Amino acid sequence: MKIAVVGATGMVGRVMLDVLAERKFPISELIPVASQRSVGNKVSFAGNEYTIVSMEDAIASKPEIAIFSAGGSTSLEYAPKFAAVGSTVIDNSSAWRMDPDKKLIVPEINAHELGENDKIIANPNCSTIQLVVALNNLHKTYQINRMVISTYQSVTGTGKAAVNQLSFERSNIPGDKVYPYQIDLNCIPHCDIFLDNGYTKEEMKLVHESRKIFGSPELAITATAVRIPVIGGHSESVNVSFHSEFEMEDVKNILTNTDGVIVMDSPEREIYPMPFHSQGKDAVFVGRLRRDESAPNTINMWVVSDNLRKGAATNAVQIAEYLVKNDLINTEVVSQTV
Ligand code: A2P
Repeated sequence: MKIAVVGATGMVGRVMLDVLAERKFPISELIPVASQRSVGNKVSFAGNEYTIVSMEDAIASKPEIAIFSAGGSTSLEYAPKFAAVGSTVIDNSSAWRMDPDKKLIVPEINAHELGENDKIIANPNCSTIQLVVALNNLHKTYQINRMVISTYQSVTGTGKAAVNQLSFERSNIPGDKVYPYQIDLNCIPHCDIFLDNGYTKEEMKLVHESRKIFGSPELAITATAVRIPVIGGHSESVNVSFHSEFEMEDVKNILTNTDGVIVMDSPEREIYPMPFHSQGKDAVFVGRLRRDESAPNTINMWVVSDNLRKGAATNAVQIAEYLVKNDLINTEVVSQTV
C-alpha cells in the first residue's frame, strides 16, 4: 500500500513515521511530503532514507492513504486533491473536524461510523483525544452532565518552532518566538487564537469535538487551555458531573478496563501520571481520582498523554489500520510489507 505522510518533517509527521514503522503498517511505498523548502531532503523510516517530494508529485503517485499533519490551510487546499485521485486522507489539522459531512474519529470510540465513502477523515485535537478516551466508558455508564477542563499543554503541540523557542530560552540564545511571551519559566493561558466569545479556539475545540465524538450535542463543557514549558505530553485537570450516581470503586474499575487507558492512582505511594513519563507512549494515563465533595455525582481526575502519540500520530495510524482491516481503502491488494 502506498502511503503519503504530508508534513513528514514536522513534530507530528516524524512521530507518524515512527508509529507506522513500529506497528508494521503494510507499506509498499512511503511518500514523504513537506513544504517546497524541504523537497529533496531526506527523512528516515524503518531504517531507510526517503526523499521528500512535493505535494504535486505525491498527488500524481495516487497513494491509497495520505496522512496529513501540515496545518489547516494546507489540508483545506490539498486534502480534496488527494481525495480526487482516490486517496483516503486522514487529517490531523482542525480544517475538517467540524464539517458535518466529515467523520471525527477516535478508533476506540466511533471507528464503526466509517464507510468506504469517507475520503477525508478528521483526527481530533490532541487535548480532545485524551479526554474522550478517558471518559468514554464512564459516559456510557453514568452519562456525563457537565465537564470543567483545565489543560496544561506541552510545547510540542505547537510544532517544532515552539520546541525551538523553549530550548533557545533555556540556553539563553536569541531566536524566533512563536508564543507572544517567553514560555520557559512561565505558563501562557492562551492556546491557538482568541475567538469572539473570549475563549481560545483550543478551548472551543474541546467543547465541540467532544460533543461530536460522543454524539452528545447538548453536553455542557467549559475549558481553560494553558501552555506550559513541558515537552513530554499534555495534562488535564477534569471535573466531571454525571447524571447517575456512582461508587468511586466502580469508576476506578471502569477506567481500569477502558481500552487505551492506564490508571496510575496510588496517592499513598505518590503514584499519579505526569507528562514526563507519558512521553513516547500510546496510552492515556489517569490518576488523582477523587469524588468532588462540593457537588453531587461529580469526580475530579487528572489525565495525561503524549500529545504527539495518542493525541495525533497513533490515533491517525489506528484509523488507517481500521480502514485496512475493514476493507475500506481503495486498493486491490496489499502487496508487500516493510
Ligand atoms: P517543512 O519542514 O518543509 O516546513 P510543525 O507542525 O512541526 O511545524 O510541522 C509542520 C509540517 O508541515 C512540516 O513538515 C512542514 O514542512 C509541513 N508544511 C508546512 N507547510 C506546508 C505546505 N504548504 N505543503 C506541505 N507541507 C507543509
